[in-house]
Amino acid sequence: MISKKILITWWLWYIWSHTAIVLLESWYDVIIVDNLYNSDISVLDKLQKLSWKTIPYYDIDIRDKVWLSQIFEDNKIDGVIHFAAMKAVGESCSKPFIYYDNNITWSLNLFEVMDDYGVKNIVFSSSATVYDATKWNPPFDEDSVLWTTNPYGTTKLVIEYMMKDLSNYRDWHCISLRYFNPVWAHPSWLIWENPKDKPNNLLPYVFKVAIWELDKVNVFGDDYDTVDGTWVRDYIHIMDLAQAHLYAYRSISNHKLEYINIWTWNGTSVLEMINFVQSVSSKTVDYDIVDRRDGDIATSIADPSKAKQLLWWEANYSIEEAISSWRNFISKNH
Ligand code: WQD
Repeated sequence: MISKKILITWWLWYIWSHTAIVLLESWYDVIIVDNLYNSDISVLDKLQKLSWKTIPYYDIDIRDKVWLSQIFEDNKIDGVIHFAAMKAVGESCSKPFIYYDNNITWSLNLFEVMDDYGVKNIVFSSSATVYDATKWNPPFDEDSVLWTTNPYGTTKLVIEYMMKDLSNYRDWHCISLRYFNPVWAHPSWLIWENPKDKPNNLLPYVFKVAIWELDKVNVFGDDYDTVDGTWVRDYIHIMDLAQAHLYAYRSISNHKLEYINIWTWNGTSVLEMINFVQSVSSKTVDYDIVDRRDGDIATSIADPSKAKQLLWWEANYSIEEAISSWRNFISKNH
């Protein structure tokens, strides 16, 4: 059997690296494009160690169409899983133009080169920020009204519209996966979300406090109408999310254009998340309650039924498994 080659784009390695492992385990070949702006080449060695495979890797910015075209020239690419995007909601409110420029230009270039080379299969890493949380009540299904409250979300929505056109007029097969809060790590913890800069997202921040790299976590508000006043999110295990990309890609030829929620139905508050990590850490995870963060969406619950129906995908990993692998990791390394 000739395995299919998938190009993976990213500039932060967390989701792509876990997705790459899952694809490699399912006999796909992968090629990685990452400009290493906010990630570390050592992750590639780890992926190769985990998969026992050599992974072609291109250190380019996909803004550079000449180099991007060369990759398509040199490889018979079956399709693309497109992650490359800046992704911090708060940062996008203070730096909207950087978000518009990077996220949209990267996609535009990629789509043009894909089309030049007749590559028409794409799974896109979208977001539930595309749903209108200002007027409509969650849980959102895929037909809920779309509206964004921050520039990051706006870029995701624009890219979804681009894919709608390409599926209509260029005969593309597109699946847009809408998700939110990937957390935890590969069971080996050889790879985990460990950004070079100070983390924007909750869990990597809490991890770094627990392993003495940062002092304390700022909790953005404790006056919400929730179990303990801190905001509740549907955190999805990164391995479940990686599987969702695999299942979507597997079925791509059956679909012209689909938007699919990837969710678990389980909500956990910020303080509960901190306590989970604290429960197996020797260091106290200190935190301060501070003001609410700009652009934070009002709620984050979506209905994952369509994923089950179309992709046969459901979340499987439990928080207990995640905690126990985190315990092994810190007991061996810290
Ligand atoms: C989780 C909760 C914060 C950091 C996610 C993705 C983002 C995008 C949108 C997909 C929130 C609180 C956080 C901290 C805190 N993804 N928090 N202190 O905002 O749900 O964004 O959805 O489209 O890429 O990450 O995730 O991890 O930033 O925040 O109190 O230092 O933790 O207010 O309630 P968020 P997050």
